[in-house]
Amino acid sequence: MDRRKRWTAVRVLVAGGTLCYGALLGRAVTVSGDSGPGKGGVNVGAATQFSLAGKRPTDPADLANYVKNRAAAIRLGKALFWDQQAGGDGVQACASCHFNAGADTRLKNSVNPHNATFTKGPNATLVAADFPFHLLSDVNNRASAVVRDTDDISGSQGVFLRTFVQIGFGSPASDTCTSVPDATFNVGGTNVRRVTGRNAPTNINAAFNFRNFWDGRAREVFNGVDPHGADTVGAVIFRTVGGVPTPVSVLIANSSAASQAVGPPNNGTEMSCDGRSFPLLGRKMMNLIPLNGQTVSPTDGVLGGLANPTGTGLNATYVGMIQDAFQNDLWNGGVTQMENNFSLYWGLSIQLYEDTLTSDNAPIDQFAAGNAAALSASAQRGLGVFTGKGRCSTCHSGPLFTAAVAVGGRSFSNTGVRPVADDAGGILEGNGRFKVPTLRNVELTGPYFHNGGQATLAQVVDFYNRGADFAGGFTDGNVRPLGLTSVEKADLVNFMLSLTDNRVRTRQAPFDSPSLCVPDDGLSDGVTNAICIPAVGAAGGAPAAAFQP
Ligand code: HEC
Ligand code: HEC
Repeated sequence: MDRRKRWTAVRVLVAGGTLCYGALLGRAVTVSGDSGPGKGGVNVGAATQFSLAGKRPTDPADLANYVKNRAAAIRLGKALFWDQQAGGDGVQACASCHFNAGADTRLKNSVNPHNATFTKGPNATLVAADFPFHLLSDVNNRASAVVRDTDDISGSQGVFLRTFVQIGFGSPASDTCTSVPDATFNVGGTNVRRVTGRNAPTNINAAFNFRNFWDGRAREVFNGVDPHGADTVGAVIFRTVGGVPTPVSVLIANSSAASQAVGPPNNGTEMSCDGRSFPLLGRKMMNLIPLNGQTVSPTDGVLGGLANPTGTGLNATYVGMIQDAFQNDLWNGGVTQMENNFSLYWGLSIQLYEDTLTSDNAPIDQFAAGNAAALSASAQRGLGVFTGKGRCSTCHSGPLFTAAVAVGGRSFSNTGVRPVADDAGGILEGNGRFKVPTLRNVELTGPYFHNGGQATLAQVVDFYNRGADFAGGFTDGNVRPLGLTSVEKADLVNFMLSLTDNRVRTRQAPFDSPSLCVPDDGLSDGVTNAICIPAVGAAGGAPAAAFQP
């Protein structure tokens, strides 16, 4: 029945134009079993609001004051993002927690105990039966008996607890550090890698975010040094004036991704021994072959031209890549100036790389462009539930499925995932309000929510259908028992599966990358007990998988 109705719609498109097409298609889909109060028909018109085609993040207006060659800056940003040598252990790159569709699907040693104790102990492996973290006897009834509940967080494992002594250039490029007994992350007194206190969102499309992080703490204005924008007093970079590197303070608008990117590198949980500075990280990286030891495909969409003929690393230096990318007065005063400006190069170049990671060719985009076959009948009905009875698009609106992207846009809500006391969320909003995340590629970015407490999209839909787990006075009114049928739930899941850009799945350019090995055990040195992904070129390779406990 659905197929026949869609045929009708397509014929009308040819004869009568987009408007009729949308209207008829909507009626066809509504007839085929969807129901729900207050919901209009499902049609292409309802989909066009979600099309990302042709949209890009907004550049800082004064970008040219900093960057003289955008392509060179993107090369630098991509190399830095994937380079394991940036880690204090010579293992931990940005990409280590953002390697699968920009997110992290590891199962072992992924738990942060939040308060007090681990439910399963340190260095445990998550299995399907651990999800959801708040399990009810009736998934459709939030008042039903609680079978189990944990405030643990499914996060990302980073580095061992150590204090920084000095940078190191060996292989791996491990810094000299002093091990510190870790009261939380240890097994029988032996430290294991530390785990973040929130789940890692994808960095794909993150350059659109007005503010980054679940709590929005990565400011929209980049001060060149740290994530805190204008709040940091005395943040300076150096410009050469009359041959002399001279401190200047900068506030670069539309640069939350840059503010974000300068957070992790010297963080004692995520990437570094505690206490390393950006100038020292700069000194380290500028003395190393970029991506040394990692394979770079000669057809990599960005780095292919620099791929070393030996197969690993780049045939380039970070010094040269910085000089190619950035305005001369930001580096021509010498090595010390380059070290002191390394946070600026790091932030802006990674932002410009992430700006290329725009996934604008998912089935939803194709459907919005008029390809009725791009969404299954079920996904089309799911679109109707998403924008109607499910109330999803009241928060997950627009091409990124969040309004937290527009300039000046602040879209944070309390959806009752955890008690407010567990995590207050937004630094301005508080009261358990978290940034509304994008749903693009959500199929591949589990586990879900800031606590990583749901393993599947079906579990997320059950969560919304019962009106959340910890609904309270601050919970948004659109989160309430929905009364969805099992068909409507399945349709909603199918709709969300239509938000995956196949280039993200198969790691085609711009989502291609050098090879990478990530620790898959709290004791891993990054070589043994590691998950390794091969280098892929622009044509892509083995597909990224969904989170599979
Ligand atoms: C140890 C794991 C880990 C490493 C390493 C890491 N991240 Fe993340 N990333 C996370 C987690 C966890 C969050 C969420 C933290 C929060 O919101 O409080 C996050 C958040 C982000 C976000 C925000 C996305 C959004 O929608 O708000 C971006 C972008 C990002 N990371 C990029 C990077 C970059 C760039 C680097 C390297 C400089 C990096 N990450 C290194 C785990 C990691
Ligand atoms: C009141 C605003 C609001 C409504 C309504 C809403 N969401 Fe959300 N959604 C959010 C926020 C905020 C989060 C993050 C919450 C957290 O992690 O604590 C989120 C998270 C999610 C996630 C997890 C994404 C990730 O990367 O972890 C999915 C999937 C999702 N929502 C789907 C839906 C669906 C489907 C509906 C409709 C049934 C819906 N949302 C309704 C605000 C909303």
